[in-house]
Amino acid sequence: MSGQDGSVTEAAGAGAGAETGTEREKRLAAEAAATLVEDGMRVGLGTGSTVAYLLPALAARGLDLRCVSTSPATAEVARRLGMRVESFEGLGAMPRLDIAIDGADQVAPSGWLVKGGGAAHTREKAVAATADRFVVIASSNKLVERLVPPIPLELAEFGLAGTLSRLGHVRLRDVPRSPDGGVIADYLGEFDDPAELADRLSQTVGVVEHGLFPAAMVSQVVVAQGDQTEICDVEH
Ligand code: 5RP
Repeated sequence: MSGQDGSVTEAAGAGAGAETGTEREKRLAAEAAATLVEDGMRVGLGTGSTVAYLLPALAARGLDLRCVSTSPATAEVARRLGMRVESFEGLGAMPRLDIAIDGADQVAPSGWLVKGGGAAHTREKAVAATADRFVVIASSNKLVERLVPPIPLELAEFGLAGTLSRLGHVRLRDVPRSPDGGVIADYLGEFDDPAELADRLSQTVGVVEHGLFPAAMVSQVVVAQGDQTEICDVEH
């Protein structure tokens, strides 16, 4: 780079007493990213507590947007704020998006991400992959020297025992299934090379999706540190 569940019911800082430093950073990053959206755009909306600050900032701009959501929770909040959220299911969905904006659990200097702390990583990856520009919003505590476990997984129920045996080092999460019926888990094995692990996870039968997002998928990272917000381009 240069330069938990999926609940998004309300930004934590709003009406919840004094805003902490991290909450302020999430809000600043989200508000900066909201300014990147232009009238008429097709927009992918992420999931999580950082995105919870994006939604009101975007709605307040009063732009004419067509949005899709990475989770039912985000869709509900966005619609309540008056945003147009379309289905992303099936052949009738928008085949391209202009921009998608989402949070992350870890952001490496290379631009690789870990996502899925809120178990929405399968839909988040589908939306990010459909966007011409994928923008990540993060408080400074999300910046890491290198990515580490846990890596979120979504697994097929069918053949689950075999999938777990092939993967090893997996802990099932005690959370509801994904909206697509997938079992949510985390890969806990140590790794050095995220690309190597991403390949292995993708090639393991029974893994629906994993939470490693390659730098090639990420256009920009908007990170706030204290009062400063920086928009960093990810080099490909
Ligand atoms: C949900 C995600 C979130 O984007 C990620 O967990 C960051 O969440 P938050 O903004 O609440 O820290 O990947 O699946």
